[in-house]
Amino acid sequence: MKEQTAGVPHHIAIIMDGNGRWAKKRLLPRGAGHRAGLKRMISLSEAIFERGVKICTLFALSTENLSRPQEELQGLFTLFREYFEKNVARLAEKEIELKIIGNLTLLPEDIGEIIRKGEEQTRGGQTGTLVLAIGYGGRQDILAAVNEAVRRGKEVNEKEFSSLLSTKDFPEPDLLIRTGKELRISNFLLWQSAYTEFYFTDTLFPDFSDRELDAALASYAARERRYGKL
Ligand code: FPP
Repeated sequence: MKEQTAGVPHHIAIIMDGNGRWAKKRLLPRGAGHRAGLKRMISLSEAIFERGVKICTLFALSTENLSRPQEELQGLFTLFREYFEKNVARLAEKEIELKIIGNLTLLPEDIGEIIRKGEEQTRGGQTGTLVLAIGYGGRQDILAAVNEAVRRGKEVNEKEFSSLLSTKDFPEPDLLIRTGKELRISNFLLWQSAYTEFYFTDTLFPDFSDRELDAALASYAARERRYGKL
């Protein structure tokens, strides 16, 4: 019998690592690396939807990243503002729905507001869903769900637990890509990636080309997903 391979992933998640090192190699400030990362993120997310992927979740800022020096954080917040101001109309035009997961109370107030507007403007887009994880932590997501279950005073099963997470509206990621050489998950989608296929690359995020995206997709397509079964 022919083995069942994975095909095109429905949901890709990406840990966009290596912006700082990309800048350092060019003797540029770290902020220049994040700017290059954002530029790449914009074209990469379009390329992802063009390949038939329906959901793309990008790790833009972890809860732990919020302890970085103020100067770097302020630079990232400036990029977030620019992104929402300049790109939401294009997303709406391309019918890409924007969703945010993470604790927005950890961010400057105006960012929370522009994010809500961005979600509103792109609601119902049929091409796919771009999920930005900002101020997101996998453990914090799990803890909030546990506390909600405790508040409700009733034991939950896996399905019910998943519905208490911030990712409740999306299926679990099929493929998780991490750029920038590190071989870890860094508090990203901990519960949700139990059976996700991983693709790690040394390439720094601003250099992660469409060609390498295709290599990651080809690697995924050839995999046999058994979910622990035979
Ligand atoms: C990790 O690289 C990257 C980040 C902490 C930020 C990622 C952000 C972007 C790509 C821009 C996002 C913008 C929007 C609007 C969502 P690093 O700084 O840890 O790199 P290093 O490991 O080389 O130092």
